[in-house]
Amino acid sequence: MAVKEIMDALRDEKLEDLGLKENLAQLVKDVKVIGKEIDLLLYLPKAGLEDALRERVRRVLLGLSDIERVNVSFSGSPPPRSQAPVGQPAFAKRPVPGVKHLIAIGSGKGGVGKSTVAANLALALSRLGYRVGLLDADVYGPSIPTILGLKGERVLVNEQNRLLPLEKFGLKVLSIGFMLPSEDTPVIWRGPMLMKALTQFLFDVEWGELDVLLLDLPPGTGDVQLTLAQNVELTGAVVVTTPQDVALADVRKATTMFREVQIPVLGVIENMAYFVCPDSGERYYIFGRGKTAEFASAYGIRVLGSIPIDPEVSERSDRGEPVVVGNPESETAKAFLSIARLLAQNFS
Ligand SMILES: Nc1ncnc2c1ncn2[C@@H]1O[C@H](COP(=O)(O)OP(=O)(O)O)[C@@H](O)[C@H]1O
Ligand SMILES: [Mg+2]
Repeated sequence: MAVKEIMDALRDEKLEDLGLKENLAQLVKDVKVIGKEIDLLLYLPKAGLEDALRERVRRVLLGLSDIERVNVSFSGSPPPRSQAPVGQPAFAKRPVPGVKHLIAIGSGKGGVGKSTVAANLALALSRLGYRVGLLDADVYGPSIPTILGLKGERVLVNEQNRLLPLEKFGLKVLSIGFMLPSEDTPVIWRGPMLMKALTQFLFDVEWGELDVLLLDLPPGTGDVQLTLAQNVELTGAVVVTTPQDVALADVRKATTMFREVQIPVLGVIENMAYFVCPDSGERYYIFGRGKTAEFASAYGIRVLGSIPIDPEVSERSDRGEPVVVGNPESETAKAFLSIARLLAQNFS
C-alpha cells in the first residue's frame, strides 16, 4: 500500500457533518506504512472530535486491501501547507532529512558479498570527497560492525531521543547489530516491529549533512524492501551479484522487484568476478565470464564494475580494516573506486 493511495482515499472523505470544511487528507500531518499497519498523525482542528475522526479514518482505511490495523494519534498544530496545493498530499515518500542521496544495496541471495561491497563502496565514495553514511539494515545478519571493526559497539541517543551514528574511517555508521544484546542473539523481529525499527533507523537518526547514505539491505525481496519502497525517497538501488547462474536467477527477481516498486536500478556490481594470479597478474574468470553483462543488457541496466576474488578482502573484513582503507593501492581497492566514480554520476 503506497502513501499516495492512502491519501487519495482520505481525500474523498468530506467532514462537513462534523462542522469541518477540510477533507480528511487535509488533516494529515504524518503517515507511516508498516507492512499491513498504518500510523497516522492527524491535526485536531477542534477538541472533542477525536473519536469521530478516528472512526472515519478507520472506516476508510480498513476498507483498503491489505490493511489490517490503523493507529491514529492527534496533534494540535495544523499540517504545513507550503509544499503542496490544498487537497494534495504534502508528501508521497519522505526524504531522510539532511541526506541528499539514499542508495540501497541489494542482492538476490546472501553470501554474494553485498555487505563487503557496501562497506568498501562507502569508503571509496568517502575517498572521493563525499560525505557518506552507511546503514546496515540487514536484520538477519548484520555484518557491517565486523567489517568496520565496530563489533560490540552500542549506539547512543541524544536528549531528543534520536540515535547517534558511530563514526569510523570518516563514515557515519549505524547497524542493527549495535542494538542487539549480543551478536549471537538471533534476530526474531518480524513484521511490524521490524518495519518500525527500520523506519526509525532512517528517520530518527542524527545523520547530519550527508551527500549519500548507503543502505545494506537483507538479501531477497521481503518486507524490508517493501517498507522502504512505501515510505522512503530513494535515489535508487544497486544490485550485487556473483557470476554464477544461481545467483543470477535470484538477482533477476530482486531487480524486477525494485522496478515494480518504482525504485530505479542504478546498476549491477559483479563481485568475485575473477581471480588475479599473484605471480603472473593474469585474470582467471573462475565462474565464467560475461554472464553479468548479458543479464544487465537484457534488463537495460548498467554494469557498474567487477570486483576480483581477493583473499585480502575477506581477511581484512574479518580484521575490521576493509581493503579500500587498508590497501588503497591494490587492484581491488581501485575497482571499488572506479565503481564509486560511476555511481557518483547519479549525484548531480
Ligand atoms: N571480492 C571478494 N573476495 C574474497 N572474499 C570476498 C569478496 N567479497 C566478499 N567476500 C567474502 O565473502 C563472504 C560473504 O560476504 P558478505 O559481504 O558478508 O556477503 P553478504 O552480505 O552478501 O551476505 C565474507 O566472508 C566476505 O569476506
Ligand atoms: Mg551481509
